[in-house]
Amino acid sequence: MLKIKKKILVTCAFPYANGSIHLGHLLEQIQADIWVRFQRMQGNTVWFICSDDSHGTAIMLQSKKKKIVPEDFISLILEEHKKDFISFDISHNYYSSTHTKENYYFVKKIFLSLMKKGLIKKRYVLQMYDLQENIFLPDRLILGGCPICFSPNQFGDNCEVCGSIYEPHELIDPVSCLSKKRPILRRSKHLFFDLPFFKDMLIKWINSGVLSKFVLNKTKEWFITGLKEWNISRDHPYFGFKIPNFSKKYFYVWFDAPIGYMSCFKKLCKKKSNISFSEYWNSNKNSDLYHFIGKDIIYFHSLFWPSILEGSGFRKPTKIFVHGYVTIKGKKISKSKGLAILAKDWIKHFDSDSIRYYYASKLSSKIEDIEVDLVEIIQKVNSDLVNKVVNLAIRSGKIINSYFNNILSDVIDNSNLYNKVINASEDVLHLILNREYKKAIILIISLADLGNRYINLRKPWNIVKIYNRNDSLIKEAQLICTTVINIFRILMIYLKPITTVLAKKTELFLNTKLSWKDINIPLLNHKISYFSPLYLRLDKNKVDFLLKK
Ligand code: MSP
Ligand code: ZN
Repeated sequence: MLKIKKKILVTCAFPYANGSIHLGHLLEQIQADIWVRFQRMQGNTVWFICSDDSHGTAIMLQSKKKKIVPEDFISLILEEHKKDFISFDISHNYYSSTHTKENYYFVKKIFLSLMKKGLIKKRYVLQMYDLQENIFLPDRLILGGCPICFSPNQFGDNCEVCGSIYEPHELIDPVSCLSKKRPILRRSKHLFFDLPFFKDMLIKWINSGVLSKFVLNKTKEWFITGLKEWNISRDHPYFGFKIPNFSKKYFYVWFDAPIGYMSCFKKLCKKKSNISFSEYWNSNKNSDLYHFIGKDIIYFHSLFWPSILEGSGFRKPTKIFVHGYVTIKGKKISKSKGLAILAKDWIKHFDSDSIRYYYASKLSSKIEDIEVDLVEIIQKVNSDLVNKVVNLAIRSGKIINSYFNNILSDVIDNSNLYNKVINASEDVLHLILNREYKKAIILIISLADLGNRYINLRKPWNIVKIYNRNDSLIKEAQLICTTVINIFRILMIYLKPITTVLAKKTELFLNTKLSWKDINIPLLNHKISYFSPLYLRLDKNKVDFLLKK
């Protein structure tokens, strides 16, 4: 049956341009990248985009500390982030920033259209102000006790322990992260987005299958506490886009950031003339839009973002995919709290496939936190990838190289086993597209086990020792090794979107492209290359070094 090819736009949440990429950001990027690569392997058109989130007080303060203007600061960070993602083989089609003229264009356009519809209100509010630093404090620069569960050291906007959303002045004993003093409350005029207006639309939308069960339940809780109008303006000093006709006020970073999904895509359309912007963003679109995000930013994506889109006449997301946190010793990785393994440090000591594989082996469609257990990573990668998968290639490849002129035989031996490996393709695909990566890996590794059991049983290394090169009975070894190489090849087609570097080396070794559409055509009578190491065992001595950082 001919499947209709889809048009898909995929985004990851935009990392803040105030620090380096760490293993927490990478979880999301890797999860999305694997999904995207699988979709592309099926022949679907997939555009995968992301940007730096380049506005906000934190970025302004950081650049001040570094004594450079924020514009220069964010472009340095942008280059660093881009480099980091490339080194982990994240296949973005475009990586932009929210500080672009395209983004300002869309922000103004959307804002004015919301204004026109009466969806933006003006009123005075009391806000936390740092008297010593002369600045209204953003939520993330105020720490205090959660007013709901009483956990200490929580940010001013939401609690990372119980997930509650609250106002910063509700914190127990709030303290400014800048002056370490208790902030005061000061009055200022602000613009509010009328979120409650969208209540009926949102209830219908969140129940239409766009959210997983857990995310839906979480989102429903916010309806019980009641939707609130959302402050989308910030006072000077601030680094962001100026609000038209509203002196000394800027758009709140969370207003212009998701609009960056559109403007980043616009930049991609400008680069590649064959993509149509409206095909992906008009309300009568015939394409899909998927957002990968972490559990801390559900609120923005399940309530604000669809409302902004609805209010300004654009399409809403097809699905929002939410993952849990990466933790170190049980705590969420966070640069600002001094607990992080940076992407650039990881790549100095290990490789990209190792963390891509480890995350895949842990991820499911549920929102579970994932502990970076370095000892487990090394053990898992060495035992699965090296001892099981690559082992198939080493043992069979070397015999094909040494005894058969690199040529595979013209038939496969154990067709039951081989068919089992091929027939798993639908299951692997189904699991990955449903983001059940952990289950897909278990399936793939169980097939590698079968392959290893087969070669251990048939022992081609004994056959080549017993028979002379010209003896026709030696062909039995070629047949066994050809079967194993073909099993290896299929497993590597399944793993290609996950362990991308290993896949590239495999393509060189097998002298063929690993492609999904060729799954049913075995490599027979085919010349492979000389075997060279496909994957170097991870060194456990490097663990301490990384942890000491
Ligand atoms: N800038 C906002 C997103 C705007 S989207 C229009 C933001 N930035 S962030 O840098 O804090 O996080 C970017 C993404 O990385 C979010 O989806 C967040 O959940 C994810 N992660 C950041 N730290 C994380 C972990 N420790 N673990 C897993 N993901 C985490 O939010
Ligand atoms: Zn709490």
